[in-house]
Amino acid sequence: MERIKIGVVGGLGHIGLIQAACLAALGYDTIAHDKDEAKIKKIAEGKMPFVEPGLEDLVTKAMHGGRLRFTNQMGHLQEADIVYICVGTPTLPTGAADCSQVQFAVEEIARNRSTHAIVAIKSTVPVGTARRLTLRLRERNLSDKVTIVSNPEFLREGAGVDDFWKPARIVVGSEPADPQPAGTRVFGSRPTATAGEAAAKVAGIYSPPGVPVIITSWENAELIKYASNAFLATKISFINEIAHLSEKAGGDIRVVSKGVGLDPRIGPGFLEAGAGFSGPCLEKDLKSLIHQFNEAELEPLLLRSTLLVNLRQRKNLIQKLEDRLGLLYGKQIGVLGMAFKPETDDVRDSHSLPIVNCLLSMGARITVHDPWINGPEQAGLSETELSGVIWASSPYEAADGKDAVLILTAWPEYREIALQKMKARMSKPVVVDGRNLFDPQEMQALGIDYQGVGI
Ligand code: UDX
Repeated sequence: MERIKIGVVGGLGHIGLIQAACLAALGYDTIAHDKDEAKIKKIAEGKMPFVEPGLEDLVTKAMHGGRLRFTNQMGHLQEADIVYICVGTPTLPTGAADCSQVQFAVEEIARNRSTHAIVAIKSTVPVGTARRLTLRLRERNLSDKVTIVSNPEFLREGAGVDDFWKPARIVVGSEPADPQPAGTRVFGSRPTATAGEAAAKVAGIYSPPGVPVIITSWENAELIKYASNAFLATKISFINEIAHLSEKAGGDIRVVSKGVGLDPRIGPGFLEAGAGFSGPCLEKDLKSLIHQFNEAELEPLLLRSTLLVNLRQRKNLIQKLEDRLGLLYGKQIGVLGMAFKPETDDVRDSHSLPIVNCLLSMGARITVHDPWINGPEQAGLSETELSGVIWASSPYEAADGKDAVLILTAWPEYREIALQKMKARMSKPVVVDGRNLFDPQEMQALGIDYQGVGI
């Protein structure tokens, strides 16, 4: 069997480290590049850059087995047959995705190669990026060094290792045989011989039985990623919109969601109403997709609404606090949950940050708690971010002496809170729940003034 060697750029990021560790666990000789020397030193000492269930064990075993190495030298990727690009594509002020790290990585790899490599782009990049980067390589006479394929990633944080082993589909995009301008008749066209070979090789790296494999054009692969994330975001905003009417009508959105999701054409996932979606992917990708529509002089009506509904969810939670407490100036509020979702310590683009910042700007005094984050340093926040906020070591401490508790992340341990005990520590028994963790009737029976979303 051909021994394929793997390189990963952005190897200590969420996608990169999962990719590198899982491929090394499959037996591939893997070298992961990251520009952050401090993180490389830490991982050599056994310290993970972030928490992800199941990952530490994989990394440790692969490192000890000699199948996984880390480097900050791009030249060390020289021997890799396939190099995965897993660097970030952050949002620019215009909403566009900043692809400069992807471009830099692709060109550096091409410049450093003496032999040919396949470069598989896992980073989420706007439609047309793989084509544009290939043209740039051609202009610089570097195109014989690398073949670019698009291989979008669908991992969820907190379930990334599991998602790697059990993907819903594998998508690989490559250059179509007949050169044509982006956006025209690419669907269904056959890849060039080299591109087809490269796509098949990438698809075959890990392709569990029964998992559908889509080998298609660059553009289709890039769009599949954006359309998937935008659809998930739209599902959440849709149920959040319905939640408003449900709340007014005295309904329970959780029952409505269940009833809707049982239709197999709709499916049960991503129908939980609440504070809305956040985190490093859904919002960023939605903004980038809107920007791509604008660039193409198209009007993304639905996508804009998805984003607006999401922002409204955040404002509504603050409104709910004001409805109960009046002016928030000087009020003491305990906020439960800083991570953008449970089972992660990631606060990047978490909805909790703008909500807490807004409460602070209104003059409220805030104590926060998160089971996996004990302070701003661990959260990677600078000294100026959330300054004045107190970090509590338990939800009870966060509720101590407070006028209200605001729940923002659906951590399982919050469902286990001894409500009587919490109520006894609060100065007013007000709970605004952005994740619908409790039963309103039970809360009422306990004498807690409880307000969820859509219930
Ligand atoms: C997402 C995609 O799911 C994944 O396929 C892609 O590769 C990266 O982006 P992730 O950002 O890790 O993954 O989180 P996800 O589980 O999708 O949740 C995103 C946000 O939506 C969270 O804030 C979550 O709390 C919220 N959410 C999710 C809801 O508000 N309601 C739901 O029903 C589901």
